[in-house]
Order: sequence, then C-alpha cells, then structure tokens
Amino acid sequence: MKFCTLLAGASLLALTIAQANAATATRAGFGAANGQKVEAVTLSNGKGMRARIMTLGATLQSLMVPDKAGKAADVVLGYDTAQQYLDRPNYFGASIGRYANRIAHAKFSLDSKTYTLEANDGPNTLHGGSKGFDKKNWKIDSVSSGPEAKAVFSYVSPDGEAGFPGELHVTATYSLDDNNVLKIEYRATTSKPTIVNLTNHAYFSLSGVTHSALDDIVTIHAAKFTPVDQTLIPTGERRDVAGTPFDFRTPHRVNDRIRDARDAQIRMGRGYDHNFIVDGRPGTLRPAAVVEDPSSGRVMEMAVTAPGLQFYTGNFLDGTFIGKDRKSYRQGDSISLEPGVFPDAPNHPDFLSARLNPGQTYTNVMTYKFSAK
Ligand code: GLA
Repeated sequence: MKFCTLLAGASLLALTIAQANAATATRAGFGAANGQKVEAVTLSNGKGMRARIMTLGATLQSLMVPDKAGKAADVVLGYDTAQQYLDRPNYFGASIGRYANRIAHAKFSLDSKTYTLEANDGPNTLHGGSKGFDKKNWKIDSVSSGPEAKAVFSYVSPDGEAGFPGELHVTATYSLDDNNVLKIEYRATTSKPTIVNLTNHAYFSLSGVTHSALDDIVTIHAAKFTPVDQTLIPTGERRDVAGTPFDFRTPHRVNDRIRDARDAQIRMGRGYDHNFIVDGRPGTLRPAAVVEDPSSGRVMEMAVTAPGLQFYTGNFLDGTFIGKDRKSYRQGDSISLEPGVFPDAPNHPDFLSARLNPGQTYTNVMTYKFSAK
C-alpha cells in the first residue's frame, strides 16, 4: 500500500516535471477580419512565456514574458481583435513581404526588365505595398508540442502580385522552447527570378507599455550603418557608427542621444529609423542586439542571420493608434528591430543581393531570448 502510494506519487511528480519541461502549441479561432475566419496558435513553455500568432499576417499578436518578479506582461504592441489589424494597419508584429522596408521610387530591375510597384510611402514602396503579406490570411501547415512548441504558417503569393515577379511560396515558422527562446524562421521559393526580403515587424515594449521604451538600454552589434535621405532611402554610404548617436556597440539608453539634432541622420529619421550592418558573416546566426528594460528587468537578446537590422523607435506612432487594452500608442513606446537585407538593396548593386532564383531557398532566421534581472 505504502509502496503503491509512493509509486503513484513518484509518477505524478515525473508527469508534472515532464509537463513543466514541455512546450505546448494549441490552435483556436481568433475571430474574423473582413469576413475571413482568422485562427491563432498559442505557444506556451514551462517558464511562463506565451506567444500567440494569428493567421492574419502570420502576426505575433501577443507575447507574454515574466519580469524580474515572475509577473508576465505582454511585450509587443498590437490590437485585441484581428479586424483592427486591417482597420488601422501598422505592421504590428506582422510578417512583412514581399520586400520588407523601402524600395526607392517604387521600381527595380531584374535581368534588364523594370518592375513597377505601388508607391505607398511617398514616392517609395514600403513593406511590399499596401496589400503586403501582413494583410494576407496565412494557412496553418502544422502545429506541434514537445521540447519546443512550433507552428508553421504558409502563404502562396501569385506571380505578379503587388508587381513582383514569380509565384512565391512562403513559410513562417514560429517556435518557443524552455530556454525562453522565441525563434522565427522565414523561407521562400520562387517560380521565376525575383527579389525577396521577409521579416517580422514586432514593436517591443519590454515594460508592457507602462514605461517609455526610450528608457531601454540597447546594444547593437554593428560597427556601421547605412545613412538615409529625406525619404529614408539609403544613400549608398556605409558609415562608421563611431562618434555618432548610432554607436550602440556598448549599451546606451536610447533617450540619451535620440534628440541629438546636430546629427542630420537623427533629424532625417525623426529619431532612429535606420539599417545597421550587423557585425559578422551574413547567413550565420550571430548576436545582433540586446534590449534591457530597467523598470521590469526584462532583457531580450536577439540573434539574426540577416546582413542588416532596422532599428526603429516607433517614430510614426502619434497617439492615434489605440491598441490592446485601449492603450494609445505614442512615439517612443516601442523598439523595433527588423532583420533583413538592406533597404532598397535591389537598386544598390553593391548591397548584398535580395535576388532569389528558382531552385534556391531563401531563409531569414531570428531568435529572441528573454530573461529578467
Ligand atoms: C519600418 C520603417 C519605418 C516605418 C515602420 C512602419 O520600421 O523603417 O519607417 O515605416 O516600418 O510604420
């Protein structure tokens, strides 16, 4: 009798430990957007982290992360319902394509043919045009639990969609493990030579929008960045960060230099809205940035395979975006770090190419490791 009780107790304990170590993925409805049914997958680990990704835009809709006291808060901006993402779009947490960031004058050429895109950001194309991948209702290909919880989303972009050549098959794979690492991996194949730059556009507020993200302490492993013109298109220069407000090689509070109007680049971006050239070899997953929020103790360490990282301080958030929990989002509420090829690479032959040929597989991997101190 005693032995049995002991045994039962032991197996219960084993089960509890197994459960505590396993990460789980669950699938559920997430309302509708313009009449289309939207679904979401929630990835949860045994450490109190939870990521919810909805099919609309393969969007990271919510990310719960514990603070130094173990209290979880949602650290990404966004909306409560899928419909709001279409009603007042702003790329919150979305998967961006076909070309994340800007293409100058909404034009590029490939094999001596010129392609015209939609100019949706002054004269330029931003984030693939106004009907980019962030507005598409992706499919859920698979959902799995285990040492890491995982969900694979897919979207097939028809040949010529938004002006881009080739039928593009895209997947976005989100996974979460027990080391508090959220990983996002984009892959694509094409039927014709094309250009592609996929990224995730999370707006991080590590405090959970209780404090300004400008108080965050940021490190960016980049010795150079690409200065921009008035319309935020790279001039082509690769400039040393040394001696500029763009030197984040050692940790700096964002607010310390964001108002340094002596720097024309700060004026041009109305703060930070610039591509940093991540140190190390593109294609290898390497440390790119660290963000620490002193108020909550939350820390996010980011590694990327991409050559560049767009650092954006939410400069266009003007208080008219009413997000989750009826919070009005304002400039400086968030930090975005968007890994990809450089902005406007298709028009800069000396930038790493965004070209994808049939038979090749495009990949862009980014990991976000969370902790608290
Ligand atoms: C990117 C761009 C910004 C802005 C946001 C969306 O981060 O670099 O300039 O367009 O997307 O508002």
